[in-house]
Amino acid sequence: MSDLYVVTGGAGFIGSHVAEALLARGDRVRIIDNFSTGRRGNLATFRDDVDLVEGDIRSYERAHKAVQGADYVIHLAALPSVPRSVQDPLTTNEVNVTGTLNILSASRDAGVRRVVFASSSSVYGASPDLPKRESLRPAPISPYGVSKLAAEQYCMAFNAVYDLEAVALRYFNVFGPRQDPQSQYSGVVALFLRLGAEGKPPTIFGDGNQTRDFTYVTNVATATLSAAASSTAVGRVINIACGQPHSVNELLAAVQAVVGKPVTPVYLAPREGDIEHSYADVSVARELLGYRPLVALDEGIRRTFDSAVDPSRED
Ligand code: UD1
Repeated sequence: MSDLYVVTGGAGFIGSHVAEALLARGDRVRIIDNFSTGRRGNLATFRDDVDLVEGDIRSYERAHKAVQGADYVIHLAALPSVPRSVQDPLTTNEVNVTGTLNILSASRDAGVRRVVFASSSSVYGASPDLPKRESLRPAPISPYGVSKLAAEQYCMAFNAVYDLEAVALRYFNVFGPRQDPQSQYSGVVALFLRLGAEGKPPTIFGDGNQTRDFTYVTNVATATLSAAASSTAVGRVINIACGQPHSVNELLAAVQAVVGKPVTPVYLAPREGDIEHSYADVSVARELLGYRPLVALDEGIRRTFDSAVDPSRED
């Protein structure tokens, strides 16, 4: 029988792409999601092909139920967003840290072979060095970054103490189809594409010269599957990105090009908890996972825009 993968947060933006990629290669998939930021619509094209456990990872009991019989756990369930964590650090901590601890404990108890955890570029925080290398000392400056670092370290501790194989992937600013464009906490690419299409002015926090390593979601899904399989990835923290910095102003220009009309932003003060520059060295991912970012920013933005206009064109 094929392997059983449990995808926590599988109804979320990244989780639904990972679940789909697993199903496409013939693996069995179980999703646990509480639909707080995940959406049923994200499961629409494969709902009948997965086992769905509705529940919250803040409950050990739910986590335990979800991982029973699993070979691999891809742990993506989290409360995303730096500004949300600034508003509500306690809930961010409960979901991202206690939730991860529950998933790790339940995975250990259930004899799971490996847990792949979705960490974040935000753990690098205020560290000025560029590009971001895994060997840099983390210096998170937002509760979100702290929560991801704590969870990452729990993964490494479980790997060391309980022999539970664990890999932490530091995703950099992921974007693509199914990313929610409606929330005040939405990622900047989804927001700019929606507002651009609606002819409304997006907000740029600061002067727009801050940079990010925007990473298309299929690059991330592919890397995540490789991390479950690679024997040299165990116990490692690995950047997943494109390895290219793009400013928020450049992003707006790219959005304007696909939307096909001028998009005029409003500039406001920088956001609290924001870092200035962020882009990754992806050589560890290349070496350990055979990773190559196949879809670059412009192509990813075009695909995201096309799928918003016509969801059947999503790829
Ligand atoms: C951060 C993490 C990322 C994580 C994400 C989860 C870093 C470097 N990245 O993303 O790994 O997955 O949180 O939520 O910490 N912006 C605007 N106008 C807007 C919205 C955003 O100018 O309307 C700017 C922000 O000020 C920021 C940049 O765009 O400088 C990116 O913001 P956002 O998309 O929210 O992601 P990060 O906070 O960078």
